Amino acid sequence: MPKRSVADVDVSGRRVLLRVDFNVPLDGDRVTDDTRIRAALPTIDSLVGRGARVVLASHLGRPKGEPNPAYRMAPVARRLADLLGRDVVALEQIVGPAVERSVEALPAGGVLLLENLRFDQGEETNDPAFAGALARLGDIYVDDAFGAAHRAHASTVGIASLLPAYAGLLLLCEVDVLSRLLGEPERPFVAILGGAKVSDKLVVVGGLVERVDALLIGGGMANTFLLADGVDVGASLVERDRVADARRILDTATRRGIQVLLPRDATVATSLDDAMGRTVTVTTLPAQSAIYDIGPETVSRFAAAISGARTVFWNGPMGVFERPAFAAGTRGVAAAVAAAPGFTVVGGGDSVAAVEQMGVSGAIDHISTGGGASLEFLEGRSLPGIAAIPDVAG
Ligand code: 3PG
Repeated sequence: MPKRSVADVDVSGRRVLLRVDFNVPLDGDRVTDDTRIRAALPTIDSLVGRGARVVLASHLGRPKGEPNPAYRMAPVARRLADLLGRDVVALEQIVGPAVERSVEALPAGGVLLLENLRFDQGEETNDPAFAGALARLGDIYVDDAFGAAHRAHASTVGIASLLPAYAGLLLLCEVDVLSRLLGEPERPFVAILGGAKVSDKLVVVGGLVERVDALLIGGGMANTFLLADGVDVGASLVERDRVADARRILDTATRRGIQVLLPRDATVATSLDDAMGRTVTVTTLPAQSAIYDIGPETVSRFAAAISGARTVFWNGPMGVFERPAFAAGTRGVAAAVAAAPGFTVVGGGDSVAAVEQMGVSGAIDHISTGGGASLEFLEGRSLPGIAAIPDVAG
């Protein structure tokens, strides 16, 4: 059942508390990737255009319930103002009488950004008092924070029962696209998973292996699968307590007759600080070396599978791509996904950063603003932030 949309409610002159996910990377007080801010613009523009008084709320980083100057929203407010081409009032508080007065003073079409929600402990504990204080700032609640929809916090769940709640345009778009992958994707459906830790992604890999036609595994997490497959990965990062889980996933793939492609060659070094890696096959790892990237033969095999797919989902880098010596695998996969003729979806901060850095993001059909949220969605789990919004008929 579709969710109630912000497009269907009269917002003129009303205070709209809009939860967004402006959890963006910062370098000091400069936003280094504004993808998530830009993704929220359609909803903000629509509200402004319809004369709403827009009160934006977001978390930024993990300040653990206390004010922390490194995570103030001010740099985000500046970037948002540039993108919107209008003033954005940045408050230094989240809730309370002074904030309520600022909201009261906001004209129709005005935009205000509250201070970081996670400066208050009540946010992450979904404290009813904090949710109530937030609810005093709006007549209507709109959730456009898909990236935070897997968190049951005061601003994503608690508040939704206190105000008439609607889904924003970004959240609806994310649900629509990712549902295509969960439902009946065009086949072959190829998923590419990477990133450092297999434990973070085991459940999603376990779910995807039941649904995809091929699973391509790279990044640090591939080492645990290689070990489960009997390959000695030497000094590489491995989660030994997850080897049995990885083995089970490989067995499921065999039972289902689907392909799991693991790295056949890799870029290795004795330390991450080495300026240059060596390419070797994964079965001939030199002593004391560790795998930091997939190798060129693996990139070619992955690229061939990607180019033959009708649906592609990619989450997680193929190596330590922040280091130039270990970036080729991630860049190669980014290029292959961008060139793929099928329907392509990329989710997760690092993979999105890779396609942005390469200037190929325009060639991807959908760039998800959700990292953990898109993975949990694809596990088939109900996300609390989405479940909290009433359905159209509700
Ligand atoms: C994200 O970056 O995935 C979201 O903003 C959620 O952030 P969190 O993992 O700190 O809850």
